[in-house]
Amino acid sequence: MANKRHTFTYPTRIEYGPGALKDFTFIVKDRGLKKGLIVTDPGVEKAGIAQTLKSYFSEAGIESVIFNDVKSNPTEENVLEGTKLYKESACDFIVGLGGGSPMDAAKTMKVMATHDGPLEKYDDMKGGDKYILNNMPPFFAIPTTAGTGSEVGRSSVITINHKKTIIFSPYMMPDIAVLDPMITISLPAKLTAATGIDAFVHNLEAYIVETFHPMADGIALQAMAMCVKNLSTAVNNGSDVEARGNMLMASAMGAIAFQKGLGLNHAIAHGLGAIYDMHHGLANAILLTEVMRYNLSREGTRARYAALGSIFGVENDAEKVIDAIDKWLVSLHLNIKLSALGVSPDKLEALEDYALADPCCPGNPKKVEKGDVLGILTKLM
Ligand SMILES: [Fe+2]
Repeated sequence: MANKRHTFTYPTRIEYGPGALKDFTFIVKDRGLKKGLIVTDPGVEKAGIAQTLKSYFSEAGIESVIFNDVKSNPTEENVLEGTKLYKESACDFIVGLGGGSPMDAAKTMKVMATHDGPLEKYDDMKGGDKYILNNMPPFFAIPTTAGTGSEVGRSSVITINHKKTIIFSPYMMPDIAVLDPMITISLPAKLTAATGIDAFVHNLEAYIVETFHPMADGIALQAMAMCVKNLSTAVNNGSDVEARGNMLMASAMGAIAFQKGLGLNHAIAHGLGAIYDMHHGLANAILLTEVMRYNLSREGTRARYAALGSIFGVENDAEKVIDAIDKWLVSLHLNIKLSALGVSPDKLEALEDYALADPCCPGNPKKVEKGDVLGILTKLM
């Protein structure tokens, strides 16, 4: 496919490392910005991270206000309330601080700060991206978990009238992503494990999408190796800055790689999130090896799985790689049955319908037919 036209866009500036959070406030000052809206959620605020950022801003001579009410699935109301606060407080920049939800909500507030409503107008599935212009305030993203990689992404998922809606524009890319491992240290072991596997799956699914994108493939391979090497340490010894930093970087790399696309693992995980409100990373972890086994009959995918042998210290053999991932998931306590999480057999068909209609499904290298998802889910009950 090297003889075809492709467009590659990898422009995000990343400020990485312990201390990056504080240094970042001086970069903002150097840009002449005066007052920021910090968008976060109640959990991050409770952990004291929003207040720390606010005091760093204050030391740098920058005012800030905190909007802390982002829901775990951010809504249109969240976006409109935050945008109102931005305008009423006469802010001139926005910061998304937290996991994927605050970063997505903040990214969309940036759009609504300079664009007329309704938000629905910008629905990517209805071609809304063409209405998003490059006249938006500066926007910075600071992840407090290592998983979603939303800090290097150009889209957000917002619930509008109970429907998950994708808002997308190349102009929504954060101006700077601040990756400071020190602010991920307080993340509990369970969440570290689940979000870390989400990062791994982003890289794995991007790697097997059959699109010509060797840059994404290279990033995905390196990031998978970093996950395998560092996730267990980050889970078992949360204050290991080296492991936390590598996971934070692997998470950003995952989102950079999945500009190439995602696949069936995410299509089903989205259904488990929508119907059972299941944690996204946990859902991905539960599905991981069964989806890999399903994909084995696709020759190119089998070869790509096999090539991961060296990362896991096993032979370059797809089945051996899958077995190694199973053991890894057991060691992370993520080998959980769907039935143990309340998934009932009579909902499996609805989950399949959701997965088949999910935008990630067509990215899967093996074409997914009716009944296939049902087969995978039944094995996981
Ligand atoms: Fe994900």
